[in-house]
Amino acid sequence: MLKRGIAFLFLFLAFGSPAAVGEESEYGVLVDKPGAEETYIYCAACHSEKIVAQQGLTRKDWEEVLVWMVEEQEMEPIEEPDYSIILDYLAKHYNVDRPNFPNK
Ligand code: HEC
Repeated sequence: MLKRGIAFLFLFLAFGSPAAVGEESEYGVLVDKPGAEETYIYCAACHSEKIVAQQGLTRKDWEEVLVWMVEEQEMEPIEEPDYSIILDYLAKHYNVDRPNFPNK
């Protein structure tokens, strides 16, 4: 019984409408909230957005990640207002409580 339930769940996840499952929107795994578009545009340019979504960081640590991206990974500094939009988005949806950890 349980096995069958899991198989159904798997089928649903594999073939169900992505929007209905709440993952894989047009911004990949990034949760579809204000700021997702900007974050996706800037952060998925070099690497998968999954690398971003799997983090759970405080706002301060996100700021440091952005500095690190610029100083060490050759990211263009992000201008305002996009910088604040992205930082707000990351701090809200990808904080230490990991509310949107992929596949949770
Ligand atoms: C110019 C290219 C570039 C852009 C743009 C970029 N990154 Fe990165 N990012 C990298 C590279 C290269 C690495 C791998 C660094 C390493 O692991 O040595 C990386 C790794 C990371 C990691 C992984 C850290 C870990 O512990 O594995 C995070 C988180 C991250 N980036 C966040 C972001 C965010 C958020 C943005 C958007 C604001 C962004 N990146 C935009 C180049 C970029």
